Amino acid sequence: MSHTPDVTHTHGKRVSTPITAQHPLDPLNEEEITAARTVLDEAGLLTEHVRVAMLLPLDPSKSDLAAWTPGAPFERRVVVTLLDRSSAKHSGAEVSPTPHRVDTHRVLPTGEAPYGQAAILMEEFYEVGEIVKASPEWRAAMERRGLSEYIDGCFCSPLAPGYFGKEDEVGRRLVRSFTYLIPNEGDSPWAHPVEGLIVRVDLTGRTVIDVYDEGDIETPLAHGNYSIAAQGPERESLKPIDITMPEGPSFSVDGNNVEWENWKLHVGFNSREGLVLSNISWRDGDEDRPVLTRASVPEMVVPYGDIDETRYWISYFDAGEYLLGRNANPLSLGCDCLGVIHYFDGFVNDDHGNAVKLPQVICMHEEDYGIQWKHTDLDGNPDTRRSRRLVISYFATVGNYDYGFFWYFYLDGAIQFEAKATGVVFAGSGVPGSDSPYNTEVAPGVFTPVHQHIFSARLDVAIDGEDNTLNEIEAVQIPMGPENPRGNAFTWSHTQLKTEQEAQRMANGPMSRVWEVASAHRTNHVGKPTAFWLIPEGKSVLLAQPESSVYARANFATKHLWGTQFAERELYPAGQYPNQSAGWEGLPTWTKADRSLDGEDIVLWHSFGPTHFPRTEDWPVMPVDYSGFWFKPHGFLDQNPTMNLPENAGASCASSGSACCTSGSCGCCSGESCSCGNTGCGCGK
Ligand code: CU
Repeated sequence: MSHTPDVTHTHGKRVSTPITAQHPLDPLNEEEITAARTVLDEAGLLTEHVRVAMLLPLDPSKSDLAAWTPGAPFERRVVVTLLDRSSAKHSGAEVSPTPHRVDTHRVLPTGEAPYGQAAILMEEFYEVGEIVKASPEWRAAMERRGLSEYIDGCFCSPLAPGYFGKEDEVGRRLVRSFTYLIPNEGDSPWAHPVEGLIVRVDLTGRTVIDVYDEGDIETPLAHGNYSIAAQGPERESLKPIDITMPEGPSFSVDGNNVEWENWKLHVGFNSREGLVLSNISWRDGDEDRPVLTRASVPEMVVPYGDIDETRYWISYFDAGEYLLGRNANPLSLGCDCLGVIHYFDGFVNDDHGNAVKLPQVICMHEEDYGIQWKHTDLDGNPDTRRSRRLVISYFATVGNYDYGFFWYFYLDGAIQFEAKATGVVFAGSGVPGSDSPYNTEVAPGVFTPVHQHIFSARLDVAIDGEDNTLNEIEAVQIPMGPENPRGNAFTWSHTQLKTEQEAQRMANGPMSRVWEVASAHRTNHVGKPTAFWLIPEGKSVLLAQPESSVYARANFATKHLWGTQFAERELYPAGQYPNQSAGWEGLPTWTKADRSLDGEDIVLWHSFGPTHFPRTEDWPVMPVDYSGFWFKPHGFLDQNPTMNLPENAGASCASSGSACCTSGSCGCCSGESCSCGNTGCGCGK
């Protein structure tokens, strides 16, 4: 391992140069995507109307990966979904870019249940506006509302339509489109929704199926712009905070392998899941102990709770219907992290299968995280150690919303995942001052429906190896009696979840319910199985009714936890193609087999996220809303692993200013003395 060898400094930030695949789990690079395209082309699969809807790396099998040694050659595999736009015919192919070979190619039966289709193409995304604006019915609806002057500049959104079993929709490739006014060039469209107007667009025929046009609610025209030009003047009260790391970061990077303190892991990226972390292990003495084989957030759903004819169908699957990784932000265009940063570039495919670079798509940096531990002894002597975390993150923008996906690794062995939801809430228009049980008026005439953002994390766990057990642990109250004679006692239960049907569970906040993954063979120094706990936040799961369409389509979101036995192709909890799918794909289908989880290779699927009752403070842009979970060692290590942290753990030691002086501590470096002067603290030998 070397200290970030392929990195140059620019303005204090680190910028990585393009990488060549060195590891079988590396993200696809430009050459490999180009080679995969060439293979498809040479096989005659990329004819005039055919588009590459999805192109993903196919991980090697676990046995192949285990047999691989660094430096040895390996074969890359790519899995592709092709879409013929002239016929909506889908096909799937598996390709080896090196050597050039199409391994399999088969037509996908999108005309049969469950009817799932490829994610919406970028080409389709941009085409919808032209198709809608060419419709005489839509133009008449705009004119009837007195909105003719806005026709040229308005935005017609391309929205995944859901599945409702309608005869003229099933198996047909379509989107629903809302219209938003853009009163002045550059205005945020989301503030000006044209209410009661929705257009169904056939993406294959490039035609309008029909226009729903109802009511005469006025479109709000007050701007919803968030630029400082619209919202300023800029405040001047904030003094600078500088993060300085004069000796550089504490992590080291070799290709896509990262080492930081006790942690080792591999950083991957693909156009569907975005960030993927693999081979996560904890250094314990002279041993690297496995914790997670693979961790990602492969799906999320945003179901809306409004009954209105124009909105009842909304339930976006931002990964399966829009591809999160393809929509990831190149952070070269605007930095989200502070300090010394290592960026990883990403490559995705465009609709024609060409490689597109997303420069600096993944950000990795360290953050001070306050106190790791502290105790003041009976003589008044304090001992304090500082906490720090390694942050690996990316942001994706899907239409109006923006999502941050942040993985945190801590010095004490904890892993945390945090989803950051921000951007602009989706809105319709209404009568100012009116009430609706399904909407909040966030600005005069702008009504935002209740909705949820439910993420699914896929954790291929490997606590000290792949043979693990899954247990549910929660607090247990004990009735007054022989086992609780004075009423104060309580204990905990420990229930093994032995099969996939048993492992479909809900959180239980009042009873502090958690899920334990334990080694089936290894024990700690007090004789208990080594283990990690998945600690949920336990907010709402899917609130829609069991009879609803979205209940079937987003069935993963109806439980906080699913446990499955590892299977290579089981990656997406709502199935391979959730777009327009009738549902029940993915987790509910796989777990019918009720496979054993007793000492097996286990995958946890955790549903979490906010239920959003929008507020005026969410307008015109929503402050970040946080949700996530913890994965913490619980009996994995024999004691607190941070006991050897230095007394001044890398903090800039010398403080200044009178505040610290009056409290009697300058925060000087170890061995230095503190003195108070006119200008505040001073540190010296
Ligand atoms: Cu929301």
